Amino acid sequence: MNVRFEPARGLSGEVRAPADKSLSHRAALLGAMSSEPVRIENYLDAADTNSTLAAVQALGALVERSGEGVVVLRGTGLREAREPEEPIDVGNAGTLLRLLPGWLAAQDGRSFTLDGDDSIRRRPVDRIAIPLLQMGADLQAREGRFAPLEVHGARLRAISYELDVASAQIKSCVLLAGLAADGATTVGEPTRSRDHTERMLLRAGVSIHRNGRHVTVVNADELLLEPLRIPGDPSSAAFLVTAGVLVPHSRLLIRDVGVNWTRTGFLRILRRMKGIALGDLEDESGELVAEEPVSDLDVAHGALEGTVVEPEEVPLAIDELTLVALLGCYAEGETIVRGAQELRLKESDRIAGVVDGLGGLGADIEATEDGFAVRGTGGLRGGVIDAHGDHRMAMIGAIAGLASREGVEVIGMEAASVSYPGFTEDLARLCS
Ligand code: S3P
Repeated sequence: MNVRFEPARGLSGEVRAPADKSLSHRAALLGAMSSEPVRIENYLDAADTNSTLAAVQALGALVERSGEGVVVLRGTGLREAREPEEPIDVGNAGTLLRLLPGWLAAQDGRSFTLDGDDSIRRRPVDRIAIPLLQMGADLQAREGRFAPLEVHGARLRAISYELDVASAQIKSCVLLAGLAADGATTVGEPTRSRDHTERMLLRAGVSIHRNGRHVTVVNADELLLEPLRIPGDPSSAAFLVTAGVLVPHSRLLIRDVGVNWTRTGFLRILRRMKGIALGDLEDESGELVAEEPVSDLDVAHGALEGTVVEPEEVPLAIDELTLVALLGCYAEGETIVRGAQELRLKESDRIAGVVDGLGGLGADIEATEDGFAVRGTGGLRGGVIDAHGDHRMAMIGAIAGLASREGVEVIGMEAASVSYPGFTEDLARLCS
């Protein structure tokens, strides 16, 4: 589906960002691992997170949807996932592909196959297979790296594992496996990444603690989760924030956005660029906390300055870095992102995608080995951008269109439904 986004005269009004995708995946997975029924409010009703509900159902959890956004799950318990007859279809969901094997690896004597769409089949799984093999599970991937991935469950050994990239998906996978291992499992990461899994496990009564860059989880008999409410997704909100900052005369309020410190790197980068997005953001904390704080974000148009994004900021803004490129097109001076080679392994190669995509709209942007450099030229002409099946590339094309001089046609706009089904409608309402 191709959609044209015309230059906007300003965005105004209030909007609620869709529910957090990362937290919805985790709530469904931990719900399925729990012993008692779990009620989840404001579960994200989108393609990726619906794949997770279908997966846990295939594994023996009961899933009931009652009312808008409410999902009630009755799990199987930590060690009792059922072996499905068919492969588990993760669709386009990389988080499901990387987290679920952590749980499945502990299902002693049972085997599972995970597969998904063409994009999923290009995304590496060796990064989770390596620690799970060390823990004693048996895994086989196509060419040793890609889905379909077979997981043969076993009694797991606790390990200490140092990640060579800061990735919440790999960290979470090892922590979930650690729940059913034979002791305390520790994961170290080079710099901090999102900590939703740790917070939700703490909430579920698990003994888990963080010491600097290391997280240790102690094996558990069961998880017990109180009812959960999923906050708005800061990564989805970031598209609306960018539109509000770039389009002259804009002033909008985004309600109930998750502001966990490990997710607000984009807002800190934006503030450094002098962009206006006011909110009660969580401070960095040495302690692991169970809460997922929320805040409204009050966004207004304004002039921007270029900035440099350093490698340790990258995991804290990983899904928003392409938006930093778009902001950079409108900023005074140069904007550089370093240490972001992980962007090449997302739903598409986002370094190539953003450089070709924004370049085609008139941006002065070039790829580097581990990121990109953009020189602000006062704006974008417009043109055509191909989403390449990647939801975030589709949405960036739409925002570029609203902020451009001539409008942008996005090829493959339907990709946005993976994380933000009402995106085009929300933009139309805010622009009217
Ligand atoms: C996610 C972690 C990030 C992010 C992805 C969601 C998660 O991936 O890009 O969209 O929910 O854990 P990595 O941790 O692999 O960088």
